Amino acid sequence: MKIYLYGIREDEKEYLRQWDAAHPDVEIDYTHEIFTEETAELAEGSDGVVMVQTQPYSRAALEKLHDFGISKISVRNVGLDGFDFQDLRDFDFSLTYVPVYSPNAIAEHTTSLILRLLRRVPEFDKKFANADFRWFPTIGEEIHGKTVGIIGTGHIGSVVARIMAAFGAKVIAYDIAPNPALENLGIYVDTLDELLEQSDIITIHTPLAKKDIHMIDADAFAKMKDGVIFINCARGGLVDTDALIKALDSGKVGGAALDVLESENDVFQKKFDKIEDVKDPQFQALINRDNVIITPHTAFYTTTAVHNMIFDSLNDNQRMLEGKAPKYPVDISVE
Ligand code: COI
Repeated sequence: MKIYLYGIREDEKEYLRQWDAAHPDVEIDYTHEIFTEETAELAEGSDGVVMVQTQPYSRAALEKLHDFGISKISVRNVGLDGFDFQDLRDFDFSLTYVPVYSPNAIAEHTTSLILRLLRRVPEFDKKFANADFRWFPTIGEEIHGKTVGIIGTGHIGSVVARIMAAFGAKVIAYDIAPNPALENLGIYVDTLDELLEQSDIITIHTPLAKKDIHMIDADAFAKMKDGVIFINCARGGLVDTDALIKALDSGKVGGAALDVLESENDVFQKKFDKIEDVKDPQFQALINRDNVIITPHTAFYTTTAVHNMIFDSLNDNQRMLEGKAPKYPVDISVE
């Protein structure tokens, strides 16, 4: 049995070696390249494939896998928005994902972003770099006592809810499918509008379904409190970035932290000589503000998460190839 992995990074290799050593019956091979129409043929002769990327999975590339007789795909991450499920159905693929590689990784990153904005760390860092150690006027705010609104209360959002509650925030949440594990906390509001209107800090933790593209648009920003803190560690496409930029300009949004951007594929995981060389206008409109923090899709990026992404995806790919039920199947019959 042979499993081929796409997009392997240096930091993943040790975990790959460990999994390989524990599974002498499975042959594995990999490329650093992501999965595209050009690289699809590298998997020829393999039985299953494992991949992860923020670029879309192209239909033409998937068709090539199908032509090679490969039908089992495992992605080693949680977000599935790179796929058109119709393509997967048309070519008869089975798909698994890794939904809980480390909700804490993203929840802790979210918390650090909230704290960095509230305590005005970017401004203090700038002052510090200029040997300016004075306090005034860079006074901060506390999470304690604030209303934190959490949109989406799955694995990640529910950890954020518990962390924020531990800080002494009033936590409110909105989800189309409330999480039974949280229902006894009495945090759910009935509508997204209620959450937008009541929150001092809003953080979003939902997948990017087609219906949710620009869920947070100009109308949504208009409903928020003046000076609201807005965090997105989920998917760039959930937010209308131009509307966010206007809301920052007007002061409606008092601070924003973004681990994901609508146009991140042109920017993240690349090395530029200097920030000015990044040609993306939305990135440029955001980056030079004291009240905006951008991290390059690193909320997930911890050793725990990367270990689990490799192990859980390979385990499930092997299970499928052995005709067993995978632990984390994706229902591709629904969009
Ligand atoms: C995800 O798990 O969906 C992420 O956003 C992480 C990234 C490696 C794609």
